Amino acid sequence: MIVVAGGTGTLGRRLVPLLTAAGLPVRVLTRDPAQAGSLAGPGVEVTRADVRDAAAVGRALRGAATVVSAVHGFAGPGGVSPASVDRAGNANLIAAAAREGAGFVLVSVVGAGPDHPIGLFRAKHDAEETLRASGVPWTIVRATAFAETWATIMAGPLRASGTIPVFGRGRNPINFVSAADVAALTARAVTDPGLRGQVLEFGGPDNLTFDDLAAAVQEAAARSGTVRHIPRPALRTMSWLAAPVRPALARQARAALAMDTLDMTFGPGPARQTCPGLPETSVRQALKELLSC
Ligand SMILES: NC(=O)c1ccc[n+]([C@@H]2O[C@H](COP(=O)([O-])OP(=O)(O)OC[C@H]3O[C@@H](n4cnc5c(N)ncnc54)[C@H](OP(=O)(O)O)[C@@H]3O)[C@@H](O)[C@H]2O)c1
Repeated sequence: MIVVAGGTGTLGRRLVPLLTAAGLPVRVLTRDPAQAGSLAGPGVEVTRADVRDAAAVGRALRGAATVVSAVHGFAGPGGVSPASVDRAGNANLIAAAAREGAGFVLVSVVGAGPDHPIGLFRAKHDAEETLRASGVPWTIVRATAFAETWATIMAGPLRASGTIPVFGRGRNPINFVSAADVAALTARAVTDPGLRGQVLEFGGPDNLTFDDLAAAVQEAAARSGTVRHIPRPALRTMSWLAAPVRPALARQARAALAMDTLDMTFGPGPARQTCPGLPETSVRQALKELLSC
């Protein structure tokens, strides 16, 4: 049994069908089984658990042979945070996997490190360290930004109001990878025991600025809009003012500043040599599949 925590997410929804197509039984761990409705089918079970609840995680992982963690607490409902989901929630998943004698595939981020200015990247680093120290057979998949995630963030307001918000100057190049390609690598990490003990760093073929991405989103959606930049001083103010009352908003403002200033470029990544034959979807192609309808 392969337990996929985060099976309802952008990556997870692309991963689950790859695993079932390989003949593997899958259990999707979600806080809300109704969200997993479209994943249901032969070979797919759905179980309710919140990764912040160690007892529920223990029940959800019973009988697991491999556990995939594709969760994050950067944003989203339920008062999540990188500390509670990426650090503590992953620790719960790893401890339960150890009790079951299961392997573990952790989805992390390119750049994860103890001193990274983005809290999510620090929490991912901590999860990686917990996993390495656990004795559980592990593989870490580190990906760059998902094209589908950021295009969805832009396409919503474009369709609703004809505007696209860009946080900061929008001129810093960032590597984008298709979530479909990351799903293919993650499925490989599940099925290939030769990848245990390896960190698989993985990017896409395109380094684009947010302004470039906004143009690509308009082209793929066949709709033009107005790009509205949220200036850096406004992001700084937002990060201070929101911190006590809306920590998620403060976190997003801080991350936006970092993404507007840090070197976020990357190549296709060494994982493409380790795992030959993986798809290499361009941002343009990923957006066409996502938005042209
Ligand atoms: N998006 C990116 O640009 C990007 C880049 C690099 C790496 N990654 C990593 O790739 C993985 C997948 O990201 P994604 O963008 O596909 O995620 P997503 O679409 O934002 O979905 C988040 C997932 O996390 C689950 N989740 C969040 N809090 C949870 C909790 N307390 N208990 C149980 N499940 C919880 C959600 O499940 P329910 O809501 O169903 O409970 C959902 O399936 C994550 O590890 C992420 O850090 C993402």
